[in-house]
Amino acid sequence: MAKKFYITTPIYYPNDLPHLGHAYTTIAADVLARWNKLRGKSVFFVTGTDEHGKKIALSAEKANKSPKQFVDSVVPKFEEAWKKLNIQYDRFIRTTDKDHEIIVSKILNKVHKSGDIYLGNYEGLYCTSCEAYYTKKDAPDSVCPIHKKPLDLLKEKSYFFRLSKYQKFLLDLYKKNPDFISPKSRRKEIINRVKAGLTDFSISRSSFSWGIPIPFDKNHVTYVWFDALLNYYSATQSQKKLKKFWPPNTQIVGKDILWFHAVYWPAMLKSAGLKLPEKIFAHGWWTISGEKMGKSAGNAISIDSLVSIAGSDSARYFLLREASFGDDGDFSEKMLVERHNSELANKLGNLVSRVSTLAEKYGLDKKAGISPLALKFKNQIAKHLDSLEFDKALQIIIRYTDKCNEYIQDKKPWETHDKQVLYELANAIKNISILLSPFIPETAEKIAKTFNFKISLSELDKPLKISKIKKSEILFRKI
Ligand code: ME8
Ligand code: MG
Repeated sequence: MAKKFYITTPIYYPNDLPHLGHAYTTIAADVLARWNKLRGKSVFFVTGTDEHGKKIALSAEKANKSPKQFVDSVVPKFEEAWKKLNIQYDRFIRTTDKDHEIIVSKILNKVHKSGDIYLGNYEGLYCTSCEAYYTKKDAPDSVCPIHKKPLDLLKEKSYFFRLSKYQKFLLDLYKKNPDFISPKSRRKEIINRVKAGLTDFSISRSSFSWGIPIPFDKNHVTYVWFDALLNYYSATQSQKKLKKFWPPNTQIVGKDILWFHAVYWPAMLKSAGLKLPEKIFAHGWWTISGEKMGKSAGNAISIDSLVSIAGSDSARYFLLREASFGDDGDFSEKMLVERHNSELANKLGNLVSRVSTLAEKYGLDKKAGISPLALKFKNQIAKHLDSLEFDKALQIIIRYTDKCNEYIQDKKPWETHDKQVLYELANAIKNISILLSPFIPETAEKIAKTFNFKISLSELDKPLKISKIKKSEILFRKI
């Protein structure tokens, strides 16, 4: 098993505040980062912001700021949001970071030399919200299929990346690496589209200047996809000790941008002579009453409102518990409250409260023998987490919690004062907390303090050390 784990989220557009959709991807990446740390891997977790392009320049103009002033005012909101959600990233990369700009410039030169960049004329329908061109086929009525806004007809000289050259390379790549695009349903979609043919894509503009100058033609700037995708590489190049992290092990994206990550990105890397990521995972969308949540739709739920419903841990837990990671999920506050009350407050919270209260009164005692609450499914959980099946991993842990609650009901330690039963339960609580710690880190820490264990995978295999227990504070208040 490899010792390093490099995980990324998309870098988000700071043209507006972060919302629940961005939080979803970032929480999932954080859970995987924490999970891999727990297993002793050396982890590098990168998130950040995608700051160039017309969309940002227009937002800045509206706010009466220069583009740089504007992004400087929004980026702290992302950093604050990730703090509120307990996201432990290792680098927050901005495409305006000097080290990134230098890398992009270097790669442009390299790819240009290899003959994969040429100057052409672009005439096409463009969506500024997507920062992408559409063909008549994808947008028959000249309306963006995602943002439902009229597309602009753009006509200008532009540098192109020779994507068309990479069709066979890409199809071979998908064939040889069946997990490169996950989940499977999306993989098929991409393969069919690549088979249908690839067109070269525009990587530069000359009608605005908010981008990274093309080193061999200063009238042009590169922006968005060529610039943005390379963040994943530049994040590992600024320090010698980070270089070992290249290439990424898992890159999480929303299904809206899978095409760029599964097609443009590996072709760009191949052209630049760089190693390819192991896995691109596209998750589904959070919708509200069936409509994709987003800034353009005006139905976005802010990070503050998300966290204010039931706290950060419950928000993290809910988003990964409620929908399968590849599928869409319809968000409602009511469902979050329901999960919070039934699973976190009633099942986990009550268990910890009862066992810690009784353990304070009667103490713990460990005798030899195997407990019916022994942990048997560690490998299964590991398998689910490695496949980004968060909901399945959580289901197993909740079932284990149910079993503990049945056990305490059955053994009635409040009548029998049985220290052995209390020990078995406390040991199971340790296991549950360690396994849940990537999802609900704050609560897991509190439980670890109450029962005096360390959150690490080796503690999972060791019986809990007996100590004096004090009644736990209330972990989740019912709403
Ligand atoms: O696309 N449900 O940035 P962006 C689930 N800068 N996830 C959602 C979501 C929703 N309703 N809304 C947004 C960009 N997301 C580019 C990326 S990467 C080199 C450049 C999440 O601000 C999801 O991860 O539009 C989606 O892919 C991302 O936010 C898009 O963020
Ligand atoms: Mg978007």
